[in-house]
Amino acid sequence: MIRKAVIPVAGLGTRLLPASKAIPKEMVTVVDRPAIQYVVEEAVEAGIREVVLVTHSAKNAVEDHFDVNYELEAELEKKHKHDLLSEIRDIIPPEVRVISVRQGKALGLGHAVLCAREVIGDEPFAVLLADVLVDSPDGDRVELAAMLERFADSGKAQIMVEPVPREKVHQYGIVELDGATPEPGASVPMTGIREKPAPEDAPSRLAVVGRYVLPQRIFPLLAQTPPGAGDEIQLTDAIASLLAEQGVEAWHMRGQTHDCGSKLGFLEATLHYGRLHPELGEAFREMLDEAARKNQGS
Ligand code: G1P
Repeated sequence: MIRKAVIPVAGLGTRLLPASKAIPKEMVTVVDRPAIQYVVEEAVEAGIREVVLVTHSAKNAVEDHFDVNYELEAELEKKHKHDLLSEIRDIIPPEVRVISVRQGKALGLGHAVLCAREVIGDEPFAVLLADVLVDSPDGDRVELAAMLERFADSGKAQIMVEPVPREKVHQYGIVELDGATPEPGASVPMTGIREKPAPEDAPSRLAVVGRYVLPQRIFPLLAQTPPGAGDEIQLTDAIASLLAEQGVEAWHMRGQTHDCGSKLGFLEATLHYGRLHPELGEAFREMLDEAARKNQGS
């Protein structure tokens, strides 16, 4: 049973400036909670019980968000604001541990994952990239849970992928398959993986979304991976080595992704989660309808 997940949060977030100047990009709000909370909730829903944040000296707010805020709790208790109190206490269930390790130097995503090696130890684990929010189809369990199950059945690393337009392949890790793209909700062995290829060199349009289930073997492979694209130690390159050794599968996701690494992606995520919000959703949908009517009239 996989119980541990690594969430790298050390990146600077230059694409979100000025919002991310004095707060970590992971703490920028989507509706009523920081983006990172959606990602940790997804991990917890998939059965993860130990979350390893790979962080940076400028990112204390991320750690604080998952820690107890004693003063705030005492104040809310004094004022009998029990709903708010349980909301901040229940950000993560008590059985879930959040641990942080530091990535002192920005040497790349592969290096960030390698920083978690001591805490993960000798067992398989999940990786979730905090820039991407992943939704399952309506009412269904999180996709990561299905990937973990598939890993348990096949023993092969699982890499979540989704099709992207050809002009965007240079922004992603792109996988190569021998045959057809698997149905959404299934995985097939991949034959290659490349980090940020030029559109003319891309082996497919299937992009790595930012959810991985990896065996412990990835750590020694990462330790010997030289800098690659962007002169950074790439997780994609270590996955290519793993593929050569023991095979790796591409999991075709069924849900929807929201790229909170970009400003437009944030706006899209805000619209999406705003509409779905249990308390604010109805009023927000009315607000949007009203704005659409006004636009039509003008
Ligand atoms: C990282 C990975 C890339 C993946 C992407 C998903 O790139 O290196 O393979 O497709 O995340 O968001 P980054 O966006 O950090 O440049």
